[in-house]
Amino acid sequence: MASTSPAHFLDLPDVGADELKAILKSAHEMKRVKFTPPQHFSGMSLAMIFDKKSTRTRISFEVAMKQLGGHTIVMNAEEIQLSGAESLEDTGKVLSRFVDAVMIRMSNHDILSELASHSTIPFINGLTDHSHPCQIMADLMTVEEKLGDLSGRKVAWYGDYNNVARTWGQAAKLFDFDMAFAVPEDQHADITDFTATCNAKLAAQDADILVTDTWVSMGQEGKGTEKFEPFKVTGDLFSAAKDHAIFMHCMPVHRGHEVSDDVLSSAKSVIYDEAENRLHAQKAILMWCLKDTNVKV
Ligand code: CP
Ligand code: NVA
Repeated sequence: MASTSPAHFLDLPDVGADELKAILKSAHEMKRVKFTPPQHFSGMSLAMIFDKKSTRTRISFEVAMKQLGGHTIVMNAEEIQLSGAESLEDTGKVLSRFVDAVMIRMSNHDILSELASHSTIPFINGLTDHSHPCQIMADLMTVEEKLGDLSGRKVAWYGDYNNVARTWGQAAKLFDFDMAFAVPEDQHADITDFTATCNAKLAAQDADILVTDTWVSMGQEGKGTEKFEPFKVTGDLFSAAKDHAIFMHCMPVHRGHEVSDDVLSSAKSVIYDEAENRLHAQKAILMWCLKDTNVKV
């Protein structure tokens, strides 16, 4: 059973730069040994609770846990005694008696934090409306693979200033790289520490990475997308970026909307490497979360 201070993975700043760097190093190592995975999680169980759809997060956590010798239990949030049927305190305490860690995907970050505060096992943020830290760990790993050091890089974000964008901004402060956000003007006030602009080409100037995400995050279905059109990632933007610049997207992608087909089909796109790296990063995150148990890392 975990110690009284579980190593939650809820938001990058809570974990801190040194720990995140150690997790990234471990993620690269997990990729190196992917065909001979160490059986760190033998006899351990991860519960996964989804209040929203998922392909990559679900499969990568499930395969990560199983390749390292552990088990998973997957539940839809509506199938368990949550959503008012049972208190967050009781849910956190009871889950802590059954499994070794919990991964949750839900809208409300505060509810996730409260659940975690009542548990004696690590809770992992599998995406909230606030942030998507597991995704960004895989993304940082991918940048290191493709370009080397993160420090001093410039990342240009396009489209909606959403959960993934916010987490990129958190990572920039922790890993010492710069960001420019090319987003609609009504979102500029939310961006306090980096450049926010309506000039898509300006954001791409000397950028190492161009990144975007859906204009309509889960739970926002039906919202208008016209205001995002000027921030579509097209091949033309790469003329302003560095020669080695890469294109990233956490997926699922909406071709022809937030990104043009020519960018997606070009050698600039590393989206499938990003997706694969979710697996290796999840292993490293789980190992970090479970480091105070019998996991030897
Ligand atoms: N990028 C990502 O989190 O994908 P899923 O929604 O498929 O998990
Ligand atoms: N911003 C998107 C990310 C999906 C992985 C969403 O929240 O739906």
